[in-house]
Amino acid sequence: MDKILEASDYIKKYKGNVDKRPHFHFTPEIGWMNDPNGFSFFKGNYHLFYQHNPYDVVWNNIHWGHATTTDFIRWSYQPTALANDKSYDENGCFSGSAIQKDGKLYLMYTGHIDPNLNGIKNEEQIRQYQCIAVSEDGITFAKHENNPVIAERELPEGYLICDFRDPKVWQEGDMYYCVLAVRNTNRRGEILMFSSSDLIEWTFASSIYQSKPEDNLLLECPDYFQVDGKDVLLFSTMPCDPQYRGDISHKTAYAIGKLDYRQGQFFVESEGLLDYGSNFYAPQTTEGEFGERLLIGWMQKWTQAAPPEGILFNGMMSLPRELSVRGNQLIQRPVKQIQSYFAAASMLEEVSLLQDEVLPLPEGDSGHLHVDIADEEGQFMIELRKSGNQAVRIQVDRRSGKLELSSDYGDEQPVALELSRQGSIELDIYMDLYSVELFLNNGEKVWTTTSYEKQGRGLSISAASACSIAKIVYAPFLLEQTEQLAGLAE
Ligand code: FRU
Repeated sequence: MDKILEASDYIKKYKGNVDKRPHFHFTPEIGWMNDPNGFSFFKGNYHLFYQHNPYDVVWNNIHWGHATTTDFIRWSYQPTALANDKSYDENGCFSGSAIQKDGKLYLMYTGHIDPNLNGIKNEEQIRQYQCIAVSEDGITFAKHENNPVIAERELPEGYLICDFRDPKVWQEGDMYYCVLAVRNTNRRGEILMFSSSDLIEWTFASSIYQSKPEDNLLLECPDYFQVDGKDVLLFSTMPCDPQYRGDISHKTAYAIGKLDYRQGQFFVESEGLLDYGSNFYAPQTTEGEFGERLLIGWMQKWTQAAPPEGILFNGMMSLPRELSVRGNQLIQRPVKQIQSYFAAASMLEEVSLLQDEVLPLPEGDSGHLHVDIADEEGQFMIELRKSGNQAVRIQVDRRSGKLELSSDYGDEQPVALELSRQGSIELDIYMDLYSVELFLNNGEKVWTTTSYEKQGRGLSISAASACSIAKIVYAPFLLEQTEQLAGLAE
């Protein structure tokens, strides 16, 4: 049977059993989801594809799931875009990207071949080939007859075809380029660039970025784009050698600098992390409707166990974030489109708290909390999703200049971020059923934590020492009301 139809039939039959979805984060219709793929704006809609196993809540049998939206809150599921039905992708259609050419949407993805997929890995038998699929309507895709378009023939000596994946494609002038993750024969990660005039015939250009040998890293899902006159390179890191035991659980990194096409190298001016939590991986960007740069990431980590009994999907996407460059930092803010779904229900100004005083805020499991702190001596704690002693905690200590982030749910390791000691500090916190995303100072740093455990609804701010808070705005998520309003307006 046709594998796309088989997936669609299965989804149609069982999707009714899926419930307990988050309020405003994207989840697959059913089954397992990892990386965002093919994130693009095409013919009036945002398209999001994703690594998808429709048949189970664990990674396997990878297809490209597909959904569209205009506002990143209301998504329409579309039929499966790619299934692993060819000899060059028979063990999975791995990550890749999308680009528009001549009014058509091109997907560039990695065909994965591994005869021992769920058994003992034999690198000699693994192949990762780059492939193209094309669509007129953005819904039905035809795999190109020249696939694979990048294979052994195009990959130079010194690199391993068994770890060669995740093409991110862009256009520069008359040419197309893509960056790809690769492992070299010294077992270290690099990012390779290829070029093409038609998206079908590709030539190796250069290795634009190399990991440090001692770091033992594979640089997965590279992305390259320009924003605010700067070139930016993104990648997500995994250990290159399985015996590596170091802590790399939260390294989704960015580098700001210059891509020099002539010298074939990305010259780094500054580097940073996209997220300080451990549940954010493989983000991908696209140019938005208005020329802005938008990013969405997989809100999970590879070591995440299956969700508890009764939840029939496994995997969520982060809120999409709009990117900009400020100084030597990449700034990330939740996209504007979602803001109308949160309406301020309570606003407090110039709040003074005594030592050990607790200020309860409206209970809930989803919403946006904005806190503005001018007090440079303040020491206080925000507790979210509180139930008894359990909570997600955000502790602000302006005296020592620390922001401590922790969660009693899931297996998040606590982290401490530096706070500037001068000026005011702003926190924007988006909480949903299974996640909390914190944006510090208008997106200078982001922390994402997730857990499918049952969590409480309590929300409060307490003071460790007497302090004052300039502003607190709490805005619950309002989809039902918004839908009614939309209905009335029509
Ligand atoms: C990253 C990744 C990619 C690969 C995909 C497979 O999370 O390992 O490198 O293409 O997942 O599903």
